[in-house]
Amino acid sequence: MNKILECRNLTKIYGKVVAVNNVSIGIGKGETKVIFGPSGSGKSTLLRCLGLLEKPSSGSIYFNGLDVYATRQDLNKLRARIGFVFQDPSLFRHLTALGNIMLGLKHVIGLSESEAWRKAYEALRLVKMEDWANYYPAQLSGGQQQRVGIARAIAMDPEVVLFDEPTAALDVELKWEVIAVMKDLADRGTTMLVATHELRFAKEVADEMIFMDQGQIIEIGSPEHFFTSPNTERAKKFMAKILG
Ligand SMILES: Nc1ncnc2c1ncn2[C@@H]1O[C@H](COP(=O)(O)OP(=O)(O)OP(=O)(O)O)[C@@H](O)[C@H]1O
Ligand SMILES: [Mg+2]
Repeated sequence: MNKILECRNLTKIYGKVVAVNNVSIGIGKGETKVIFGPSGSGKSTLLRCLGLLEKPSSGSIYFNGLDVYATRQDLNKLRARIGFVFQDPSLFRHLTALGNIMLGLKHVIGLSESEAWRKAYEALRLVKMEDWANYYPAQLSGGQQQRVGIARAIAMDPEVVLFDEPTAALDVELKWEVIAVMKDLADRGTTMLVATHELRFAKEVADEMIFMDQGQIIEIGSPEHFFTSPNTERAKKFMAKILG
């Protein structure tokens, strides 16, 4: 299958720390993949490199088959085609939910005020936040703010959306509304790469799960594989730990 986003032999080193060690993964159109693994295993670093927010120390990144760094692509143009959802949505406090989403549409894509409004509103509808369009972040719960963060990413019509532990900062009840929105996006065929420990999400929607430890991919398989018979002791132990 043609990959939208792919890395080959990606290594990222910070000083003496090898944060990501020779990782090769790819994500094809409409796929949902989940990355999981212990704290410090390199999940965020890998996502930041794939999102072109950081340059790998070595290895290649391909966007729609094009080697991004070897062919000297315009990184800002490519970044606009990759959505990113972080643990903390960091919405602008002085802008409404709608205003936060319109910002990138106007200034990155160059849509007019009315086009940006329409697109932002449509994105809010997808995350079931249209009734809160004119609320400010301080008036929204953490889960609602995160749904606005997701709407902000998808409003740009990205080819792939990278999620870095989008529910990690939320209380249990609030997690589910965000996970429900993410499941909905996956069901609609959104191409998604998600670092998360929400195994129920993984079980229901992931085409593939990628287990990382110490910067390396230890094991790749279907949710079925990880839930029933992981090969490695490390994956077994980690699954047991998060399943409690
Ligand atoms: N900007 C940075 N400068 C120096 N070291 C870094 C930097 N970013 C990450 N690291 C190191 O790289 C390793 C991988 O970190 P990373 O944040 O990618 O892991 P993670 O799997 O996302 O962890 P967590 O589950 O806690 O979010 C860690 O040892 C971390 O300390
Ligand atoms: Mg992380």
